[in-house]
Amino acid sequence: MSVEEVPDPVLKEPSDAIIRITSTGLCGSDLHLYEPLTPFMRQGDIVGHEPMGIVEEVGSGVHGIAPGDRVVVPFQIACGHCFMCSRGLQTQCETTQVREHGTGAALYGYSELYGAVDGAQAEYLRVPYADYGPIKVPAGPPDDRFLFLSDVLPTAWQAVEYAEVPDGGALLVLGLGPIGDMATRIALHRGHRVIGVDLVDARLDRAAAHGVETIDLRLVDDVAEEVRSRTDGRGADAVVDAVGMEAHGSPMAALAQRMTMLMPRRLAAAMMQRGGVDRMAALHTALDAVRRGGTISLSGVYGGQTDPFPMLTMFDKQITLRMGQANVRRWTDAILPLLVDDDPLGVDGFATHHLPLEEAPQAYADFQRKADGMVKVVFQPGVGSA
Ligand SMILES: NC(=O)c1ccc[n+]([C@@H]2O[C@H](COP(=O)([O-])OP(=O)(O)OC[C@H]3O[C@@H](n4cnc5c(N)ncnc54)[C@H](O)[C@@H]3O)[C@@H](O)[C@H]2O)c1
Ligand SMILES: [Zn+2]
Ligand SMILES: [Zn+2]
Repeated sequence: MSVEEVPDPVLKEPSDAIIRITSTGLCGSDLHLYEPLTPFMRQGDIVGHEPMGIVEEVGSGVHGIAPGDRVVVPFQIACGHCFMCSRGLQTQCETTQVREHGTGAALYGYSELYGAVDGAQAEYLRVPYADYGPIKVPAGPPDDRFLFLSDVLPTAWQAVEYAEVPDGGALLVLGLGPIGDMATRIALHRGHRVIGVDLVDARLDRAAAHGVETIDLRLVDDVAEEVRSRTDGRGADAVVDAVGMEAHGSPMAALAQRMTMLMPRRLAAAMMQRGGVDRMAALHTALDAVRRGGTISLSGVYGGQTDPFPMLTMFDKQITLRMGQANVRRWTDAILPLLVDDDPLGVDGFATHHLPLEEAPQAYADFQRKADGMVKVVFQPGVGSA
């Protein structure tokens, strides 16, 4: 990871806009590119997918936003009018789907698997389908009030929606990084009982401080058993897995990952995708800790193609499993009212670190190690360190 001077992006299509970025997040998904998905990265790829800023320039076909507007940009690129977009499945947009790799909608800064689109940890960003993606936000409040509409808020919102927690039910959230933490806030705001699991002090403390019953993975032998002991022996009504394939507790996967690092790129990519180099620890915990007839909602990203599932347990327990990238535009209108007057989800204080772009390489390393109390990093291009 390095910070380089590159040519500014230019309008390529009449439906494009160029945004000058004022804030741009570092996401747990970026860590997948940093490690398990590196076989899909090319030298010079620009990463990042959580931008907000000021519109600089728009193509002749863009009428919904104009230079000077303050906007937040969803992490996925969607057209807004195809079969999928019109059904609220913007991550499956049929206009931007990356058919070459059999993946869904193109994403900013997410390797060749998702269209090799220049990413948003940069000073300027080219935004395709600019009449649909960017969300106009009012001047006044600081960037952090709206920035998380690009990813964290809709992802956590969808996680809770898909979890379908029954009235009076208990939601278990695995992983208290930015996504899990925000999912707990949304679930508490809706009146659910929330139990959260992690293994990092700063993250456990922060969740406990806003009312989550926490479980420290390091202190229990069996998370599912601990959850059952707190839920009349049944398990959680619903589970959000906000860990994904970076899970702690899958040593074989970590080994296989290290092996792919030593292989030629093509081979490594194939092994990563088809060889089941997944880190399934969190998902297995979810399957165990959910009650019979309960729902598991996966926000954490998994990337293997041949991972074995305990079908007997899943069938016998009658588990509902929902998953996927967040369909950002499907949820943003519902979330916006929570970002106006007061701040019930605590977005203003959500980021733990605001850094100049120049410090990105160190920030990636620290975020991966979860060092220095780092939970959410916001880069501020333009607020230089030099
Ligand atoms: N679905 C989407 O649209 C979407 C969007 C953004 C992020 N994500 C994914 O959500 C996941 C979380 O993202 P994040 O930004 O919060 O990242 P993160 O890496 O900061 O958070 C993961 C957390 O899980 C904890 N953890 C690790 N192993 C665990 C285990 N076995 N049990 C319980 N906790 C464990 C870690 O300590 C960490 O706090 C990532 O997989 C990311 O790619 C998905
Ligand atoms: Zn993200
Ligand atoms: Zn579409």
